[in-house]
Amino acid sequence: MTEPRLDQIIAEQEEIFVRRQPRSARLAGQAAEYLAGGVTSSWQITAPQPVWLSHGRGSRVWDVDGNQYVDLHGGYGAALAGHAHPAIAGAISRQAGSGTHFAQPTPDAVAVAAELAGRFGLPRWRFANSGTEATMDAVHLMRSITGRDLIIKVEGCYHGHHDSVQVSVAPGEEDAGPRDKPASTPSSTGIPRAITDLTLIVTFNDLDSVARLLDEHPGRVAGMIIEPVMMNAGIITPAPGYLAALKNLLHEHRALLTFDEVKTGLTVGPGGVTRAENVQPDLITLAKSLGGGVSVAAIGGTGQTMGHVASGGYEMVGTFNGNPLAMAATRAMLTEVATPQAYGRIERLRQRAAAGIQDAINNNGLTAHVVTAGAKGCVVFSAEPVTSYRGFLGVDDRYSHAHWLYQHNGGVFLPPWGKIEQWLISVQHDEADIDRLIENFAVFARAAGPGTRR
Ligand SMILES: Cc1ncc(COP(=O)(O)O)c(C=O)c1O
Repeated sequence: MTEPRLDQIIAEQEEIFVRRQPRSARLAGQAAEYLAGGVTSSWQITAPQPVWLSHGRGSRVWDVDGNQYVDLHGGYGAALAGHAHPAIAGAISRQAGSGTHFAQPTPDAVAVAAELAGRFGLPRWRFANSGTEATMDAVHLMRSITGRDLIIKVEGCYHGHHDSVQVSVAPGEEDAGPRDKPASTPSSTGIPRAITDLTLIVTFNDLDSVARLLDEHPGRVAGMIIEPVMMNAGIITPAPGYLAALKNLLHEHRALLTFDEVKTGLTVGPGGVTRAENVQPDLITLAKSLGGGVSVAAIGGTGQTMGHVASGGYEMVGTFNGNPLAMAATRAMLTEVATPQAYGRIERLRQRAAAGIQDAINNNGLTAHVVTAGAKGCVVFSAEPVTSYRGFLGVDDRYSHAHWLYQHNGGVFLPPWGKIEQWLISVQHDEADIDRLIENFAVFARAAGPGTRR
């Protein structure tokens, strides 16, 4: 497609978008008076304007203007249960009637930890309230166990908004440094350079870049944190054998490995990438869909890593850790919602979505391909598979934005920041929901297709 035509499509779709949501626009104006930036998280600021929602049920959400959407945004990957799932709503309301907070353990916490141990193969668990807290504890723990300060992180991975991991999350070409030696680039203001310098950056799917750093800093690297399938740069999968080799390499240098499965943990399958790839890390972090839509996180570890917590070597603390409301919802999520039958159903919907969208790509000559992993999927607007962040950086994000607008105006809510994010199929979606996604994509593909392609 010619550049001006793509910009014109975006402008037309943004106009339709705004026309459909006058009440959202008014609320955005009022909100700006009391909410910084008019939203509750900076990622809710989306072009052309934030979408204000009134409620959700099943696979659907409604905006404040009364428009109904098939919800594949899934609250940035946290709504594997869909909305108002009876098992989650029941667990929450029963617990709410018996007290919502004690800061003492409740029996549900043991049941949840036992279920996670079975799914992920790591024996001991603790809880927190967000993905950020979980990865912060994991980084602290790797440092505390080894007595070393340096950590290794992958360029383009996101692990939350604490200092040690807000490094090289989405650097521009000009800041990223050489391809074979990526720079440690702060990803936010307010992060001291002294802390950024303790986070060393490597390339996904590139063992040599890890080996080089381990050799350059002998005995100084505490461990590495990685999204075992990258999901903050579309979806980038590990090459066969990469994760197993990574673990061996780190262990040879007495460094630890954390899989950040905050996004992937429950969504790619019942035991996350860990189980699918059969590589057990020293630590795992979970959050997002774990609590069925309630804020909760978990950190799992081996006897050695969590033994360090048990013996008081590292104090893993938090007033709301293991909160009874969160534990009740999580128990229902694990035992009644994210069941083998639910994963079977999601797999059928995954195949339907991938095949239907790929057909529309082929029929319209779009330069794009579909990548899926369990309940998650996205369209990557490039001819070649993307294997690391640098490949992702080169993809034109205007295609994803135009696609997002077409879906939204056609009644399907995908996550904004479409180049970065993925759809999430919940346990409550059905074939008709997926067909709507495919139909909208076909309309977009015809508009962006070969008639106007250069
Ligand atoms: C892989 C990964 N880790 C950690 C986080 C941080 O989670 P939270 O937003 O719950 O703090 C995110 C959030 O998107 C994530 O994608």
